[in-house]
Amino acid sequence: MSTPDKRVVLVTGATGGLGTAMCKKLYEDGYIVVGNYRNEEKAKVWQQQLHDEGFDIRMYYADVASYESCGEMISKITSEIGNVDVLVNNAGITKDGAFRKMTPENWHAVISTNLDSVFNCTRHVINPMIDKGFGRVINISSVNGQRGQFGQANYSAAKAGMHGFTKTLAMEVANKGVTVNTISPGYIGTDMVMAVKEEIRNQIIAQIPMGRLGGTEEVAYLVSFLASEHASFITGANLSINGGQHVY
Ligand code: CAA
Repeated sequence: MSTPDKRVVLVTGATGGLGTAMCKKLYEDGYIVVGNYRNEEKAKVWQQQLHDEGFDIRMYYADVASYESCGEMISKITSEIGNVDVLVNNAGITKDGAFRKMTPENWHAVISTNLDSVFNCTRHVINPMIDKGFGRVINISSVNGQRGQFGQANYSAAKAGMHGFTKTLAMEVANKGVTVNTISPGYIGTDMVMAVKEEIRNQIIAQIPMGRLGGTEEVAYLVSFLASEHASFITGANLSINGGQHVY
């Protein structure tokens, strides 16, 4: 079972750019790190690669768009490792396109993977966190949920919705030792951002006052801080990390 000095953290979408950096940082911090994946082949290669680099990450399958699948994953983690003390809702996809051409499939795929997933995972861990009197829920949103972005009606809606969820759940569990926060990264050097056409990406980078993409480890350090005891008075917050691209 987990103890105060060996807490269990679950990172959804662990094998992506941000997920990888978070898993490494949290492992270095001393957590038992559990990574969630959907693509088994990719997860096996990833896990071996991290193992070779000295990071021992436990891997569990779930389709985060499915409530049942998340429930099965979390009950396995609970019985094999212990209660999840820190949940990082990080899994996310893009299906970009101008709204007038957006299909219902591309709308629902993004809403279910990026927003329903937050309910699907958090619902299964929240009561054990309350019973224990400690918990951290960290939702990885986006600058584009704060300000909108051409071609991302689905993604922006999901990412803005995440923070509405954060604010309400933070209030509901504030007196139970559980904090709930949103992190809104700007454009970070991940495969997701590198998939944007070079010309458009360069136009976006030109709008970032720091003149560069963020590093995945810069986001990972913020996750590490929010997960720690030092962040115990921060709840319901939306922390921007975007190089000055969106200030308000
Ligand atoms: N702003 C204003 N107008 C734009 C535009 C923009 N950014 N992009 C396209 N348009 C215009 C076009 O010029 C065209 O105008 P006309 O009809 O007058 O000719 C019209 O909008 C429609 O264009 P298209 O539908 O043909 O657009 P497209 O297919 O060329 O491009 C897109 C659409 C793929 C969404 C493209 O705009 C794009 O890639 N945008 C970037 C999306 C983005 O930032 N995604 C972030 C991914 S990473 C991520 O999400 C991580 C994170 O959290 C930050």
